[in-house]
Amino acid sequence: MKYEGWPVYEEKQIRIIAAAADILSRLFGYLTPHIVPGANTAELDAMAEEFIRREGAEPAFKGYQPPFEDRPYPYTLCVSIDEEVVHGLPSASRHLVSGQIVTIDCGVRLEGFHADMAYTFPVGQISPQAAKLLQVTQESLWRGIRQVRAGAFMGDIGHAIFDYVRSYNFAVSDQLTGHGVGEAMHMPPDVPNIGKRGKGVRLPENLVIAIEPMVHVGSRRICRGADGWSVRTKDKSLAAHFEHTVVVRRSGAQVLTSFEPIQKALAHV
Ligand code: MF3
Ligand code: CO
Repeated sequence: MKYEGWPVYEEKQIRIIAAAADILSRLFGYLTPHIVPGANTAELDAMAEEFIRREGAEPAFKGYQPPFEDRPYPYTLCVSIDEEVVHGLPSASRHLVSGQIVTIDCGVRLEGFHADMAYTFPVGQISPQAAKLLQVTQESLWRGIRQVRAGAFMGDIGHAIFDYVRSYNFAVSDQLTGHGVGEAMHMPPDVPNIGKRGKGVRLPENLVIAIEPMVHVGSRRICRGADGWSVRTKDKSLAAHFEHTVVVRRSGAQVLTSFEPIQKALAHV
């Protein structure tokens, strides 16, 4: 079995992941009007958990045991502010402040299958440099997605992402990657954000992966935050993160998660 343990699925299973992705995408639209200066990040987390359970699904991060941690993650959302790259913690004592950028990262489990998504929001008025970082990071995700089709090389994705990011003198860590996603949140193969065209594994049809560039303004180096969970840039420069769950098809990527509910909600404020 060449793809032993990889999330290469039949349509029936992919439909469940698509349904999980739909709940997740609508969750982001529901949260968007609340991602404003003064917002309490623990309240955002509670709202997210209620929304997911009301939809008959489960928050996939809550209770999840990441491979390199010694304890399960305690919340529904990762809320990573400014220099935090991933795994920032919601807390009743952490309120959003105008000028910050905040990544909301969330996973949903439905009938044993997972979808994973992240989006970095501006909080109030942000600096031109922060705005540029958000734009470049999201565009790098789309450039990675455009490389996806059955038979393409994994390295094509990372090459497209990093080539674009580098042209703005922004940085990407080689320590954090995307991943297969399906019966578990994190499955093989890794989906690196840096790569060489024509290198790495070839993508099989119906493989489900999360593509998730994390981009820093400054150094590519990362370290652990003081809370013991968050991962931040070593030089405390800003970081952004956009993630979609996609299926590898013969004709290209089928993107299961969607930023449309976010964009609709943003157009109304
Ligand atoms: N969202 C991360 C990813 O996209 C996983 C976070 S799992 C957690 O791969 F439980 F640590 F939050
Ligand atoms: Co992910």
